[in-house]
Amino acid sequence: MTQTDDSRFRLDGKTALVFGGRGTLGRAFCETLARAGARVRAADIAPLPEPFAGGEISHAVVDVRKEASVATVMREAVYNGRLDVMVYAVTTKPDDFYAPFEECSLEGWQTIMRAELDGMFLACREAGRAMSGGGGSIVLLSSIYGIVGNDQRIYEGANLAAVYGKATRGARQIYSHAGYAAAKGGVVSMTRFLAAYWGHAGIRVNCISPGGLEHPGENAEFVRRYSERVPMGRKARPQEIADAVRFLASDAASYVTGHNLVVQGHRGAHGSRAAADCGGHALVAGIRRNHHRNRSRRIPAARSGSHQPFFRRADWRCACEWHGHG
Ligand SMILES: NC(=O)c1ccc[n+]([C@@H]2O[C@H](COP(=O)([O-])OP(=O)(O)OC[C@H]3O[C@@H](n4cnc5c(N)ncnc54)[C@H](O)[C@@H]3O)[C@@H](O)[C@H]2O)c1
Repeated sequence: MTQTDDSRFRLDGKTALVFGGRGTLGRAFCETLARAGARVRAADIAPLPEPFAGGEISHAVVDVRKEASVATVMREAVYNGRLDVMVYAVTTKPDDFYAPFEECSLEGWQTIMRAELDGMFLACREAGRAMSGGGGSIVLLSSIYGIVGNDQRIYEGANLAAVYGKATRGARQIYSHAGYAAAKGGVVSMTRFLAAYWGHAGIRVNCISPGGLEHPGENAEFVRRYSERVPMGRKARPQEIADAVRFLASDAASYVTGHNLVVQGHRGAHGSRAAADCGGHALVAGIRRNHHRNRSRRIPAARSGSHQPFFRRADWRCACEWHGHG
């Protein structure tokens, strides 16, 4: 390996395609990848409201629900026979997104699944074809709600239904459709499946689970309730997620695949059984150790000083039950 440390984080000479490239995060991803040296194509169903800032970024229209559309945009993104990076950051909200679960329509559920999972399937399949022979990096977007349950109490007094446009039918300040959580869990599973499937081909597949982002317009009550549950005391910023994408896209992550990179200020601190599902990285190990310490304090007979028991499933389940997340 002859690259210097810094150059392994650079993306010079690489070609990247970002689905959802005009969204809040997609735009930050495009601009960050371009600043790192990549030639970027931003694909989205929406028109481009304002030009991208700097770098080499072109844009294309795509509807990820349509096979031909995804295939076309993929074909056009390949440059000199190569696609090195594909990021999938598409999401959508049906108009009953904020309705209580018992009132959600099948149509709304399917709207989410088509954008999140059908589109992701098509984008991954086409990216795999484009990357075959040369390898590459695929980065998918899950969410905090792909790994922990959605504590409805944080939405009391929130104005989210008003902030996020048309998604107001049945709104009772209950946020985040069950379909969103189900789809985001699917993203994590798909990541593992494809990482294993394409390991031999040099195609790395990872996902990122961001915590809630700072959004202009969200009221102080919601931001306060949310932030109180985050040990870091605040919501995420788009650049913080984009930096994670850049890392996973780069050669600095050359041995990272099948991973769910959780970027949420450790919001899982009180819901860590599900967080422990996210793939065994350092954050998860830390959570398990904390469980161990807490349990050891209250149950004198419990072993302390060794973290080994937490790699045995029975002990792990026991610790989670202690915290009420069993
Ligand atoms: N914003 C957050 O707080 C947050 C938190 C956790 C996870 N995420 C995830 O990050 C990703 C990006 O989120 P975001 O906040 O940028 O969302 P966003 O709504 O700002 O952007 C999503 C983009 O997807 C595009 N899109 C929707 N349907 C499409 C279709 N059929 N074909 C092509 N493009 C389509 C939209 O036009 C939009 O530009 C999503 O997967 C989201 O679930 C976001």
